[in-house]
Amino acid sequence: MKHLLSAKDLSLEDALQLLDTAEAMAATQQHAVKKLPTLRGKTVVNLFFEDSTRTRLSFEAAAKRLSADVINFSAKGSSVSKGESLKDTAQTIMAMGADAVVVRHSADGAAHLLAHAGWIDVPVLNAGDGKHQHPTQALLDAMTLRRWYVPGAPAGTADGSPAPAGRDLAGAEVVIVGDVLHSRVARSNVDLLTTLGAHVTLVAPPTLLPVGMESWTCDVSYDLDDAIASVRPDAVMMLRVQRERMSAAGGGFFPSPAEYSHAYGLNLARREAMPEHAIVMHPGPMNRGLEITADAADDPRSRVIEQVGNGVSVRMAALYLLLADEGNQL
Ligand code: NCD
Repeated sequence: MKHLLSAKDLSLEDALQLLDTAEAMAATQQHAVKKLPTLRGKTVVNLFFEDSTRTRLSFEAAAKRLSADVINFSAKGSSVSKGESLKDTAQTIMAMGADAVVVRHSADGAAHLLAHAGWIDVPVLNAGDGKHQHPTQALLDAMTLRRWYVPGAPAGTADGSPAPAGRDLAGAEVVIVGDVLHSRVARSNVDLLTTLGAHVTLVAPPTLLPVGMESWTCDVSYDLDDAIASVRPDAVMMLRVQRERMSAAGGGFFPSPAEYSHAYGLNLARREAMPEHAIVMHPGPMNRGLEITADAADDPRSRVIEQVGNGVSVRMAALYLLLADEGNQL
């Protein structure tokens, strides 16, 4: 594979290779000197047309830990605000000698276009395209889950230590809750978790579910309490209510924030209804008090901070496998 565009493109073998490499990268980050020489002399361009904190910082940290040079481009303050097209921006960046491009864009398919339109000839890593895909987020979520869920082991025995090579997620029950309609995180996770053998249940009000879900490899519920009780999840992943995309569409997706929280928010009572070993996840940024209460976000079972840390390891693995001298290894 030359690019990392979609979690759907990853076979089980690809996914395990990425996750095992991410664990190897994580081990190197325990050393006093975290920098590896692997990508010395290569240049990674971070092309962010949409806001980002965690994803942009962790791609930058990952590239730098591998000794690559990093050029950060954000659409705000650039000629994109003067109407420069994706094509012209891409070609400008290539003229600067990029060896890989990390791209986030509000349009579905932007990363695919960049990779396949013939404008550039280097690996493209999708850091989120519209409502479509966010493969490195799904990988960091899977890395986190692999540390806390051991297939076949009694519930509660996983302790968050690094996963051994080859571990999949067979039998894991994952409940993903909230604004599925606008969420590339949900789509990417349904694809990757299913490939890894987990079973996903999406929980959302009908207004926040996309059309055409029949083809998705998951179950759907409108009732969070019922899903927690009947699925007995190993992990509950909360999604951010994407108010910026809702207001752009004219709003009206739910009656009020209070009613949304009441029906679909994670609070301590719901946390306590989950199996004792189950973990709480959120891709960030969190709307505390809307989809998750502060005490549920800060609960000992919350893995939110760990997810961010795993993001660096996963992005190191992706850059390494797509860029290291041995050629594309994915
Ligand atoms: C997500 C994204 O941008 O898709 N965040 C992230 O990458 N950490 C989810 C979100 O913005 O809600």
